[in-house]
Amino acid sequence: MIPLTKTASRRAHKTPVFIMSRRSHSPSLPDIRLAKRPRLDIPPLTSADYKDGIMLAPMVRSGALPTRLFALKHGAKLVWGPETVDKAILHAERSVDPVTGVVSYNGKTKAIFTTHPIEKPFLIYQIGSADPELAVQAAKTVMQDVAGFDLNCGCPKPFSTHSGMGAALLSNPDLLCAILTALRTAMPPEIPISAKIRLLPSQEDTLKLVERIVNTGVTALTVHCRTRSMRMKDKAVIERLREIVEFIEGLGRDVAVIENGDCVGFEDARRIRRITAGAHSVMIATAAEANPTCFSPTPLADLEQTFIPPYIRLARYLDNHWSNTKFCASQFQGAHVASTKHDAREFRLGIVRAKEYADVAPLAEPWTGADEFTAIASAIASRGNVRAPPHVLTLEDVSSAVLPPEVEGQENEALEARPEQVKPPLEAAVPRAPLGAMNELQVSVSALGNVVPAFVPAETGLETAAA
Ligand SMILES: Cc1cc2nc3c(=O)[nH]c(=O)nc-3n(C[C@H](O)[C@H](O)[C@H](O)COP(=O)(O)O)c2cc1C
Repeated sequence: MIPLTKTASRRAHKTPVFIMSRRSHSPSLPDIRLAKRPRLDIPPLTSADYKDGIMLAPMVRSGALPTRLFALKHGAKLVWGPETVDKAILHAERSVDPVTGVVSYNGKTKAIFTTHPIEKPFLIYQIGSADPELAVQAAKTVMQDVAGFDLNCGCPKPFSTHSGMGAALLSNPDLLCAILTALRTAMPPEIPISAKIRLLPSQEDTLKLVERIVNTGVTALTVHCRTRSMRMKDKAVIERLREIVEFIEGLGRDVAVIENGDCVGFEDARRIRRITAGAHSVMIATAAEANPTCFSPTPLADLEQTFIPPYIRLARYLDNHWSNTKFCASQFQGAHVASTKHDAREFRLGIVRAKEYADVAPLAEPWTGADEFTAIASAIASRGNVRAPPHVLTLEDVSSAVLPPEVEGQENEALEARPEQVKPPLEAAVPRAPLGAMNELQVSVSALGNVVPAFVPAETGLETAAA
């Protein structure tokens, strides 16, 4: 454990500004800012934290706070927040909900970014940028609430590329590396910087780019194993990562390599680590959008009964805007084991027709969102201060592996088989959800017992304080 020194902590974390939440709340609430809570000191992220795990990918709209919390509960090692464009966050007003502890960065009409202190030790904030200075300003704006920063260098959508961001950076390596260098220089050493890229059409060019990125001092590199022109329905070229992993190892830098593309869950992550012969971790987007419990070796089935109601309850408790909750809930789909497709259809119709949380009361009541939150907080706390996920993707998975057919030139259907894609991914360009209405049923944190971590009341380090 390497606790931050007081000076480093001060440097790393601006004094938070406390703005009253836009919702009303009881004047009799205890002053949580003054509450003394023992702290669970979680050391800053290192490259080891980016290894041997399955990560939740950045997903605009789908990677909302309730989804990230459930992903952590079910075994995601780290979670990436949705890409936030640098300029969008700069003038946001930070507020802390005095009841739930939810931290919101509010724009004029909507929340730009929402988080909670319990996810902070695991949260990578992804920046969309084409300007080193703006990227640094954006990072400084939110650094007190996140554990690391990632630069989006892979989004191929015009809204991103037309201003030089996302995948446009792949063809402007000078700018890409200037942003990473600026972030690395401006951020304290205990806050890691990473990048998420796509493959370039030629492997040689990819390796050249990778070398430049590694030399900026990144702690981790995620490679989405598709090129910029590949569509999501195209099979990811995971095999190409093998050489990239070896290349980075050869550079002698301790940089974690994270595979992204086509992984559908825990068991499948083993397949991917075998094919890549040692990508340190695997990152999941689409399959997690469909089932945020896919990080577990035993993901939940019958989501209409087992997952969606608690998800809605938690989302309501956290005051997640209904439109976003409805969107996420409508993306969820899993196997049907105990339930029939007919039941599921009825359930989904209920969500589709709902205009607000009250409309789904028959599906989600009783409103025990505080209990869902407490269970998640407890699961996160049980990881201890080493961030150990409940299920580790060990190195034996790789060393004992048979080489994949692409490498050996042999047929090996078990390794080659690509699990059926859960569903086609959605476009990433989605506006942020507006600020939510007041959630009158929230309960006071002090009433939640010992497992709920305290908020970030003053100049704190990277701690998540367990009450
Ligand atoms: C709904 C959705 C939103 C996404 N938003 C982002 C984003 O904000 N930043 C990013 O780097 N990639 C984003 N992506 C791409 C994913 O992170 C990931 O690279 C891609 O989906 C491939 O992984 P998969 O095969 O597991 O889906 C998004 C993907 C989806 C499906």
